[in-house]
Amino acid sequence: KPLVVAIDGPSGSGKSSVSRETARRLHAAYLDTGAMYRAVTWYCLKTGVAMQEAAEVEKASREVDLQISTHPDHEQVTVSGTDVTQAIREPEISSAVSAVATTLGARAELIRRQQQIIADSGRRIVAEGRDITTVVAPDAEVRILLTASEEARLRRRGLQLGGTQSQQDLHNQVIGRDAKDSTVVSFHEAADGVFTIDSSDLDFEETIEAVLAVVRR
Ligand code: CDP
Repeated sequence: KPLVVAIDGPSGSGKSSVSRETARRLHAAYLDTGAMYRAVTWYCLKTGVAMQEAAEVEKASREVDLQISTHPDHEQVTVSGTDVTQAIREPEISSAVSAVATTLGARAELIRRQQQIIADSGRRIVAEGRDITTVVAPDAEVRILLTASEEARLRRRGLQLGGTQSQQDLHNQVIGRDAKDSTVVSFHEAADGVFTIDSSDLDFEETIEAVLAVVRR
């Protein structure tokens, strides 16, 4: 049974970059579950699935041939062999992804796949998302909620996107998407036994150290 480090957090909390680097330091595998929601969204848009039709979205989540690399130094997502690593980061996907995330049948399918990837991962894995500490891997040895103030999250996502976005667009993306996601998964408060790290006033290295301190505790 692999050592699982589960990390959840809202948009702009830095959980992806922090989780990936934590995996490198631990010589662990890394799973970005958000990328899987994005890849299903890409597939739905590509194949013309009506996003408001739950049954169609669920069917798409079941039939999609989705592969995701779990090597922290090799970021790659493919759908039926097509590399979608960059495409799933486009704003078009970010705006549509909540439709997949709020379709319970699609969630159930992705959770099942994520649990399989974790079980197959071998010795150690860092898995990050919105419901890893609570639903995907509630029995993980290490469970962390990475939070940050709204201000810090908006600032980080703005920098990540190159400062080209209006404040309004940024707000819609970060706060709006979290509000939609919150209707199906709760990731603003730590569940029992989940360790909270508030990164608002921590830089990247300090955040990594805080995570590693929880792992070593
Ligand atoms: O861009 P950001 O880091 O905020 O999000 P992401 O980690 O790439 O995840 C994209 C979307 O997938 C989220 O907005 C959620 O709608 C969904 N998601 C989820 O519902 N459950 C997860 N475990 C991971 C992501």
